[in-house]
Amino acid sequence: MHALLVALLGLATGASAYVGPAGFVPRARSSQAISRSQGHAFALRAPLSSAAHFGTPLASRSTFASPVSLRVTNDKEMDLAIQQISMSLASGQKPVVIGLAADSGCGKSTFMRRVTACFGGASKLNPIGRETNTLISDMTTVICLDDYHLNDRQGRKKTGLTALDPRENNFDLMYEQVKALKEGKKIMKPIYNHVNGTLDEPEEITPTPIIIFEGLHPFYDKRVEELMDFKIYVDITPEVKFNWKVQRDHEERGHSIESIKQQIEARKPDFDAYIDPQKNKADCVIQVLPTQLAANDKTHLNVKLIQCKDVDHFAPTYLWDEGSDIEWVPPRSKLASSAPGVGMKIYQKNEKWAGKDAAVIGMDGKYDKIDEMMYVEKQFASTGSKFVGEVTKKMLEYEGQPGSNDGTGFLQTITALKVREIYEGIAKVKVPAQAN
Ligand SMILES: *[C@@H]1O[C@H](CO)[C@@H](O)[C@H](O)[C@H]1NC(C)=O
Repeated sequence: MHALLVALLGLATGASAYVGPAGFVPRARSSQAISRSQGHAFALRAPLSSAAHFGTPLASRSTFASPVSLRVTNDKEMDLAIQQISMSLASGQKPVVIGLAADSGCGKSTFMRRVTACFGGASKLNPIGRETNTLISDMTTVICLDDYHLNDRQGRKKTGLTALDPRENNFDLMYEQVKALKEGKKIMKPIYNHVNGTLDEPEEITPTPIIIFEGLHPFYDKRVEELMDFKIYVDITPEVKFNWKVQRDHEERGHSIESIKQQIEARKPDFDAYIDPQKNKADCVIQVLPTQLAANDKTHLNVKLIQCKDVDHFAPTYLWDEGSDIEWVPPRSKLASSAPGVGMKIYQKNEKWAGKDAAVIGMDGKYDKIDEMMYVEKQFASTGSKFVGEVTKKMLEYEGQPGSNDGTGFLQTITALKVREIYEGIAKVKVPAQAN
């Protein structure tokens, strides 16, 4: 029995809020749009309203509108056909590759969600039906570099090395695969199973317009580092790391303070030797320090966004007047904060970072209500936002998440918007402000 599958790509991909470069077909939406009904008959759901489609630049509209006819005779061909239609990256298109260096347990997952949300669509674990670290959305793929561990947990017991040690990581494979993805090729990537500490069967990764590599060593190997279009380092000072671990492992899990100290101490030599120096290679560093507004305060943070100048496609955000050194204490009346607390101080400095000129934005302390941030946001320029209030709106979407009412959330959000801006600059396309 023969069946004819006619897919009008433009309709099938539900272009509603999506504008991509010609040929980019958002992955999840396209596959959702095709549903397999009985036997070899296929149903195609087209969104009734494709009004937003008219806002799409002509170049991409014509691509979306090209009808594709596929004749399939069996299930295997059907799978191939769906795969073809679902392909997220057209030939000739090159993904933009972002590196994020960060230790485990420092709020990376919230940060990653903030970044991927800027490209629309929900992000989910790669649906392979087993343990995976890969997060995917229509436009983005987030790959965890732990998947390039050389040995499983048992193997590391034999070598006596930590996973922080470069000798426990397969940089040759990491390089090959980052390079292949950047060239738009599929890869079969190993999986490090964090639950069991095993190296599992590889999973297939299809390149998307944005690919983020996050983990311990994204800039350690020079070949890998050079493939990164933008490099972010999350720098949590030892004091803050300790406070967070105490909160999580002592207060919530009942571990002793002594054992937490020992655990941190045991990791420190390798961390200092192999992970920390990568921050000098970063284009942008989010640094989390204890507050300077009160002594011995363990609950408030001083968060800095260190933005290196002269990085391609990266225009640092600034307060009022670019290049000025500023210290600003917003009046509590404007912030409508009723609760007593350390208050908030915002600052801008021009500093050197690893010998490079950098524009630094800092936020010390916290605020009570996220929507008050609108007042603060308006004082900033070049935040990467597409409308006034986008930073605040995006922060409200993560209300209650760690860091949502201090500089962590604010500066992570700006960094996420910058990633979108950098993507637009490199790929020469516009991502619409998400309608949701
Ligand atoms: C861990 O290993 C066990 C035993 O092999 C297996 O049944 C289980 O599914 C694994 N867990 C995960 C999350 O992979």
